Amino acid sequence: MTLLDISDLRVTFPGASGPVQAVRGVRLSLAPGESLGVVGESGSGKSVSCMAALRLLPATAKVEGRLSLCGIDMARASKSDLAQIRGRAAAMIFQDPMSAFDPVFPIGAQIVETIRAHRPGAPARAEARALLARVEIRDPDAAMQAYPHQLSGGMLQRAMIAMALSCQPRLLIADEPTTALDVTVQAQILQLIKDMQAEAGMGLVMITHDLGVIAETVDRVTVLYGGHVMEEAPTADLFDHPAHPYTRALLDSIPGQSPGRQRLSEIPGSSPDPAKLPQGCPFHPRCARAHDRCRAEAPPLTALSPTRATACWSPL
Ligand SMILES: Nc1ncnc2c1ncn2[C@@H]1O[C@H](COP(=O)(O)OP(=O)(O)OP(=O)(O)O)[C@@H](O)[C@H]1O
Ligand SMILES: [Mg+2]
Repeated sequence: MTLLDISDLRVTFPGASGPVQAVRGVRLSLAPGESLGVVGESGSGKSVSCMAALRLLPATAKVEGRLSLCGIDMARASKSDLAQIRGRAAAMIFQDPMSAFDPVFPIGAQIVETIRAHRPGAPARAEARALLARVEIRDPDAAMQAYPHQLSGGMLQRAMIAMALSCQPRLLIADEPTTALDVTVQAQILQLIKDMQAEAGMGLVMITHDLGVIAETVDRVTVLYGGHVMEEAPTADLFDHPAHPYTRALLDSIPGQSPGRQRLSEIPGSSPDPAKLPQGCPFHPRCARAHDRCRAEAPPLTALSPTRATACWSPL
């Protein structure tokens, strides 16, 4: 059974001058124990795609397509099904750790409540404390009593990971779990997520705009741009020979990646705004290889091999 099976996902938000389609036919899939990176610039639809899968988008969002999580059809799931699925089947680590906690209750009480809700009978207090220790919070007893605003960004991020893992989810979706953190803490947190994934055989979706994080943590990658899938590939293949010019541009923007280039080079042009996407391939205005067909017609996602696909009329 696949843990995550999203296909032809379309998400539309109401906008000031008409509906805005933020996600335009995305597919994502994950088998048990596997890890998938979802990469792309700001606004490419990474968070919206994953939040749609957990049915966490506001009611104003129009969501279409197939959304299956641990074999459950999320589009048809009832409110009570959703409460069970979120946490137990799949947990999410959010971009903003403050959003995961209620500001008026201590961290420990919130983790304990989550454990009790999903796994009645478990020694909830002892497990919550052990998890806080596991995410290397130095004084787990103090953290149990602390309110969210009393913890530093890094500590809160760790506490959120502890809370996500407290239900022993089969799938963990981590949305930029380390962007707000300094490099040392970032490396520790990524290692922690990887260790926990390996121990529990948990599936992992790692959302990031940072290909360095991808290289360290996942087996496969899906590259998004303007709400479209640009490329799917095993991680090593993506780094060795990207098929899409956008992936190539992302790789070139990693500092020290290509000889003689030490500084982060930005991809020319502005990142995709779903309200202003051009006709044809969404990347064509920024693509040095673009030709007439790219400007007229959006290329479909096409298989290059059993494990690779790209949406480009002239792949590299
Ligand atoms: N609740 C919402 N209402 C209206 N538009 C939204 C809403 N949530 C997201 N969007 C829009 O959908 C698009 C995709 O957003 P999304 O959050 O998925 O981007 P992202 O790839 O996660 O970017 P980032 O790297 O900045 O987190 C953006 O243009 C965003 O403005
Ligand atoms: Mg996001």
